[in-house]
Amino acid sequence: MRVLGIETSCDETAAAVVEDGRRVISNIVASQVRVHKTYRGVVPEIASRCHVEHLLPVVAEALKQAGSNERGEGIDAIAVTRGPGLVGALLVGVETAKALALAWDRPLIAVHHTLGHLHSVFCDLPEGRSRVIEILPDDGAVPALTKWPSSPSNDGMGDAIDRQEHGSGQTGAAFDYPFLGLVVSGGHSSLVRVDGPGRVCLLGNTLDDAPGEAYDKVARSLGLDYPGGPEVDRRAAQGDAGAFNLPRPVLHSHGYDFSFSGLKTAVVQEIGRFGGVEKLRADEEALCGLCASFQAAVIDVLLTKTRRALKKQRLKRLAVVGGVACNQGLRTEAVSRFKDAHLAIPSPILCTDNAAMIAAAGAHLEPLEKEEALRLDARAGWALAPAAERRGGWTRSTR
Ligand code: KG4
Ligand code: ZN
Repeated sequence: MRVLGIETSCDETAAAVVEDGRRVISNIVASQVRVHKTYRGVVPEIASRCHVEHLLPVVAEALKQAGSNERGEGIDAIAVTRGPGLVGALLVGVETAKALALAWDRPLIAVHHTLGHLHSVFCDLPEGRSRVIEILPDDGAVPALTKWPSSPSNDGMGDAIDRQEHGSGQTGAAFDYPFLGLVVSGGHSSLVRVDGPGRVCLLGNTLDDAPGEAYDKVARSLGLDYPGGPEVDRRAAQGDAGAFNLPRPVLHSHGYDFSFSGLKTAVVQEIGRFGGVEKLRADEEALCGLCASFQAAVIDVLLTKTRRALKKQRLKRLAVVGGVACNQGLRTEAVSRFKDAHLAIPSPILCTDNAAMIAAAGAHLEPLEKEEALRLDARAGWALAPAAERRGGWTRSTR
């Protein structure tokens, strides 16, 4: 069964075709990072507009690379991110998916974004199937929608970059249920027990900032570029993690929940103690040391709680997913701490937002009834547990 996945929850316009919930046939991501860089954060209205402009060419490219066409030949179903996310951005994906489902007479599947991230570990991504296109800031020109899919690198719309990197541990066909998922991204940090397709139990969640959000805010305080995660990660690799003494928030309390807002504040205080951001930035060793100390605290809290959950839940498989799972420090430390577990960390292209994970999750979920599909709405806030419950899954655990 081939599923077309569509993802537009934040600032990545993505479409993919996945076979049998595992084999990625095509994976196209049009990243808006360069568009939002000027504002040092995602501007919701601009994100929606970008999705409107770019989603159809991205879908067309995903279909073309999968040997399909604008009539959706060979596509058996359409899976779309319904939420959570930016509602205007989500709506573009949801309405497009509804229109395609109606026009092609194919079933529509609504996917929870976090469930998508959790299913990225099932994706087997052969080389050459992914394409990342950087959308350039709007120069006022009307995008060449029809020409763009066939020549993404030559029409001035953006650069096509093939990012192929392999994950740690085994993903794809080798990974299976049940497993513990650590979902770390710009909007989430959750520990989730996954027992089967859509059967999830949310063990812990973020109490305030998600780790990606903390990375982005710390980077901003340090005057680093947006998005901050990769910038801090790069400097952390050259710094001394013991240079600054930073707290490990809620390490010994609040069950499996996380909190990163206090850690971000602690970094801001350290910058002040050092004599301000200009002084710190002039001292490369101190700057890298602060990045390394921050990163070590984030990783320590994430992985210590993950270890506890893995033990308590008596699970052998662990999946580390979401945008922050691109973090080199986290990847290396997870590999070193979880040698006794079957660890899966997808390749970075499947960690940041993509549609292959949405198609992979969708393949395991029930499609909506036709009438239901036509009425499908976008959900800015959509709880993971009730979404699974509807499919006969678990409710949120009591700790
Ligand atoms: O999963 P994702 O693409 O979008 C959300 O669903 O939020 O995650 C984006 C987040 C951003 O906050 C970004 O700074 C963070 O992932 N990120 C990283 C790294 N690469 C991306 N954080 C830490 N280290 C990285 N290398
Ligand atoms: Zn995400």
